[in-house]
Parts: sequence; structure tokens; C-alpha cells
Amino acid sequence: MSKKRVLSGMQTTGKLHLGNLLGALNNWVSMQEEYECYYFAADWHALSSNYEETGNLKENLVDMGVNWLSAGVDPEKSVLFIQSLIHEHAVLHLLFSMITPIPWLERVPSYKEKMEQVANKDLHTYGFLGYPVLQAADIVLYKADFVPVGIDQLPHLELTREIVRRFHDIYKAQVFVEPQPKMSEVPKLPGVDGRKMSKSYNNAIYLSDTKDEMFKKIKNIITDPARVRKTDPGDPEKCVAYSFHKVFTPTDDNLQIVSDCKTAAIGCVACKKKLAENIFARINPLLEKRAYWNERKPEVIDILMAGTEKARTQAKETLARAESAMKINAGNLMPQVK
Ligand code: TRP
Ligand code: SF4
Repeated sequence: MSKKRVLSGMQTTGKLHLGNLLGALNNWVSMQEEYECYYFAADWHALSSNYEETGNLKENLVDMGVNWLSAGVDPEKSVLFIQSLIHEHAVLHLLFSMITPIPWLERVPSYKEKMEQVANKDLHTYGFLGYPVLQAADIVLYKADFVPVGIDQLPHLELTREIVRRFHDIYKAQVFVEPQPKMSEVPKLPGVDGRKMSKSYNNAIYLSDTKDEMFKKIKNIITDPARVRKTDPGDPEKCVAYSFHKVFTPTDDNLQIVSDCKTAAIGCVACKKKLAENIFARINPLLEKRAYWNERKPEVIDILMAGTEKARTQAKETLARAESAMKINAGNLMPQVK
């Protein structure tokens, strides 16, 4: 029996942080055994909200490849590719845009939310509205059975399914696979200030940070504000450092921390030192591999290029079937025209 196919993309908007590692990347790695995986750098999607700052796109792209390989994404098992090098994504995006009602896009929750949140950029653009249409094209070009999603991406996937159904309905042909969401259990890691870890909040710990930088950030993680002096008892549930402990520290040690914190038997400095040790223990293998791949960027690029060639074959096939269903593959007319 052949493996089911999984597809996922990551925007090349910037350096990866610990939240990305735990949220998506580790999940990508673990799906490789059971599924045939297609993973890609969504560099066109990155443009949708960063169309003015394109200078770092290439650098981010290679850094992303470095992170994937360092985390254990394996090009022998998975197809790793670059969206913008496969123009079929753009063509299918265009075809889908012909049949996608604008209200479907306007009601996607992330659309309005992000537009309101990101105050320093004008996101009243065609491309930003059409972001989920491009995502739909990404997904169905590769006949993905599953797309791993967090709760925020669920509406995008639902929209993909709606576009697919509408296409099938209008053109009376079953061309695409309707992808299913694959909800993943993701450990919840906040940023050092307790909000969601995000580049735009300036509260992230990056995989590219030096250990000193990481240590400094860990030291500054917000703790229970009621614990002013070391002798004040604390409440771990009100402490951001403890949220980190829950992710990185073994359960037994956490029970100890809880009781020591509540009785003021441990100070925050020592508690965070433990945390730093546990974080480093977890990510050290990745940091070492990062150092390795950072020395071998041309090889990283070769790997992405080889994956792109593989992916392109599948993308071309699906697009040809879509055009054929729409009866618009004008290329087929040419011999008769001549
Ligand atoms: N929207 C996704 C994100 O921001 C990135 C993405 C683009 C994607 N195309 C995709 C994810 C296709 C899954 C499938 O994380
Ligand atoms: Fe947080 Fe640890 Fe300080 Fe308690 S001792 S408030 S858990 S950092």
C-alpha cells in the first residue's frame, strides 16, 4: 500500500525561532516515516505581507533549508522544494482566482486579524487577500491527502476544500484531491514576555542566536510578578519561565520546581539556570548540525534544487489535468493552427 501524502509550507519571512521548531519543524520530521512528505519554502507567500522588504528573501530561504536539515528533515525521505521556482503554483493560483468568490476570502479570520495587527504595512493588496488561494494551489498541485495545521490555519484548509469542490462542480471533473487537516499536538511555548512567540513582538529565541544571546533571553523571561524578593513564595502558573519548563523540563523535576517555588526554596535565577540547561540539552544536537550545514550552504541549495525538480514533475501533471478539465489548454491547439 502506498503512503498517504502530506504537504506543508513555511513562509520565508525570517529567522526561525524555538516556537517554529516545536510548532512545525519537529512535526515535519516525525511525519516522514509514515507519510510521503512534500515540504516547501513559501517565498511567494512571504511577499504577501513583506512585498517592500525583499532584500533578505534569498538569505532567509537558505537559512530555512539549513534549519530543516539540521532539525532532521531528510531529503532522502521527503521532497524539499522552493515555491517560486515552480511557476505552476502561480498559474493554478490564477485559475483558482477566477472561481473564488471575494467574500470567501474576506471572511477568512486571519485576513482581517493580520490586517489590523500589522499596523506598519499596507496590506490592502490583491495578493494579501488572495493568500489562501495561493495556498490552495500549493496544496492541490501535489495531491496532498493531509496538511498539518494548527488551529489558525484551519480556515485556510477549509477554503482549499471549498475551492476544490467549486472547481469540480463547475468543470464537471474530479481533478484534485480534497485535502484533510491533520491537527497536531503542539506544545505551547510563549515568547519571553508571555505573549505568543513572534518575530514582530521581539520576544523570540532564535535558532541562530548565539548561546550567550539565548542565555540572556532566558534570564530575562518574565516570572511571577508577585515574587519580588527571593524570600517571597511564587506561583509557577503565573510565571512564563514555568511555561518553558513545562515544555523542556522532565515532569518529576517540574513537580520539584513547583513545590520549591511555592515555598521560596528556589530563587528565580537558579530556576532559570536549570531551564537554560534543559533547553540547551534539547537543542544542542540541532545547533551542532546548524554549524555543520552553515558551512555547506551550496550543498543545501543543491538539495533544495533537486527537490524542486522532483516536485515540478508532479505540479506540471496536475496543472495539465486542471487545464484540460477547463478546456483551456490552448497549447494543444497549436499543431492544428499551424
Ligand atoms: N500559510 C502557511 C503559514 O503561514 C504557509 C503555507 C503556504 C502553507 N502554503 C501552504 C502551509 C500550504 C501548508 C500548506 O504557516
Ligand atoms: Fe518562575 Fe521558577 Fe521563579 Fe517560580 S522560581 S517564579 S517557577 S522562575
